[in-house]
Amino acid sequence: MYQFNREEYEKRIEWYQEARFGMFIHWGLYAIPARGEWVRSTEQMPEEEYLPFFDEFNPVDYDPKAWARAAKAAGMKYAVLTSKHHDGFCLFDSALTDFKSTKTQCGRDLVREFLDAFRAEGLKVGLYYSLLDWHHPDYPHYKDQNHPMRNHPECGNEGRDFNRYLDYMHGQVRELCENYGKLDILWFDFSYGEGENCMRGETWRATELVTMVRELQPGIIIDNRLEVSGEGFGSLWEGDPKPYHGDFVSPEQIIPPGGLLDKNGRDLCWEACVTMNNNWGYCALDRFFKPAPMLIKKLVECVSKGGNLLLNVGPDAKGNIPAESLEILSEIGAWMDKNSESVYGCGKAGIPKPDMGRITRKGNILYYHLFENTIGAMPLAGLRKEQVKAVRWLATGAEIRLAGSWITDNYPDVVFADLGPDPVLSDPVDTVLKVELRDE
Ligand code: GLC
Repeated sequence: MYQFNREEYEKRIEWYQEARFGMFIHWGLYAIPARGEWVRSTEQMPEEEYLPFFDEFNPVDYDPKAWARAAKAAGMKYAVLTSKHHDGFCLFDSALTDFKSTKTQCGRDLVREFLDAFRAEGLKVGLYYSLLDWHHPDYPHYKDQNHPMRNHPECGNEGRDFNRYLDYMHGQVRELCENYGKLDILWFDFSYGEGENCMRGETWRATELVTMVRELQPGIIIDNRLEVSGEGFGSLWEGDPKPYHGDFVSPEQIIPPGGLLDKNGRDLCWEACVTMNNNWGYCALDRFFKPAPMLIKKLVECVSKGGNLLLNVGPDAKGNIPAESLEILSEIGAWMDKNSESVYGCGKAGIPKPDMGRITRKGNILYYHLFENTIGAMPLAGLRKEQVKAVRWLATGAEIRLAGSWITDNYPDVVFADLGPDPVLSDPVDTVLKVELRDE
């Protein structure tokens, strides 16, 4: 019987909850068709139309050190790269297949170079690994929920040995855990289906898999998608952790409206994974990038709700992160240079969201994130005057004095900060006040 050790668990996720901000990288053969990472499935593309991309793949510009510098400059503390996505193409030198980057023209172990480069910049490193595999002959094809050949009776499943696929999948995960040094995160993706088509939990031989991973990589953090996907939360949320429970819940393309608590009302560890445009993998026509100011506020929103943000980039077929993404990362980094103290190691403030922005907290320090100014003095929502020890502009350290005049006297229960005569906040995106509380 599996015994969940909460003390061990909370120690394991400590750095991760401190880090708050990471880079997701979706990259592979699908960057060549450039219509997103699901192109084989969405277009029901037969493998013979996809394999030429294997012969063509040659990312001559791949420079993971540049990627790592961009992530670090943006204030990201960890990064997760797809080692194998649903198409089955491996960005690492697996002994179990030739459908891998070291057998393409580039001949490079892309995962190893990624890990070396990001570790060298001091970031924690993770690998995404797809449980699905549309290349492997033993993975269900016809009538599977997602397989490109799901509607092709000629691709029936007679003779397919799913257990042989699981041996392959477990073998590859073992390779990643044994051959690439210390991994900080394993990001499995994803479980789906119900009843006889249930591809969840022990269908993956999940207990065996996670037991192996934790033996080989003690302290590693694993996501919740051996149980669910972006939909669903998993057994940790149920308050009945399975042996293969996720260490964090992975809401996708959404920030949970009220943050996330487990069924017993206990804070849950969660990470919102979000694309910069609308695709994980490179998509040439998708120029709908979220502006940096929006993403800065979304990062603050995640932290204010006790979560992390894993922000995705989708490099192109030559190995370049799109220029729009680099510009967004640079703008986020400029804000983080002055304000990261209000993100790292911060979490929920225990104060309802105020009108003008959001609040993050670290111990007895509250960070009031001002997305807009007020008319006159700034109310410090949720505080009493006697609680406030000091208020400072976070970016400069300059003192802010509390306001008190005939204007604010009408509201004796509200603490106001005097932001001075300028009605325009110094940072048009998010101006942060650092409020130190007196010891209770
Ligand atoms: C979904 C998508 C997958 C992507 C993942 C990232 O599962 O199907 O392509 O890698 O989200 O969270």
